[in-house]
Amino acid sequence: MALNKNVEEILNKQINAEFWSAYFYLSMATYLNDNGMSGFANWMKVQFEEETSHAMKMIDFINERGGRVILQPIAEVPSEWSDILNIFEDTLKHEEEVTGLINECVNVAIEVKDHATVNFLQWFVDEQVEEEAGVTEIIDQLKMIGCKGNGLYMMDKEFKSRVFVDTTKA
Ligand code: FEO
Repeated sequence: MALNKNVEEILNKQINAEFWSAYFYLSMATYLNDNGMSGFANWMKVQFEEETSHAMKMIDFINERGGRVILQPIAEVPSEWSDILNIFEDTLKHEEEVTGLINECVNVAIEVKDHATVNFLQWFVDEQVEEEAGVTEIIDQLKMIGCKGNGLYMMDKEFKSRVFVDTTKA
């Protein structure tokens, strides 16, 4: 079954949103590097790679379904934050927005009874639950240590070892 035009359009919008997310996290990574937090910067760099893989997963799906991928310009991203807590609170807010966008994609697919797309998007629905939970945990940890001193140093050290694992192919 050919890809419905409304589904194709909203998936294209989502590709742009995923690339925007990648760009957003890359901006955070460079900011953190400039501010001496190379572990947190690494965490954000992995986030950038994850978001890029999300966009690629959608591109591959549209192609597989015989649809057309149209890449749109990526809007400007923020480049300044007040502190490390502000960065992760911004991250959580952003991921909550992305969850809303993914739900919109599902709604459109359900509307046109495109079960293959609904099924495909389930991976993203699950991924959003994980993303929000992971970031919430980091915010809680940051609050617990008061965003400073040895606690902050230990978190930064721990995040140096985060590596990108491409889970989109699983
Ligand atoms: Fe692609 Fe962070 O959601």
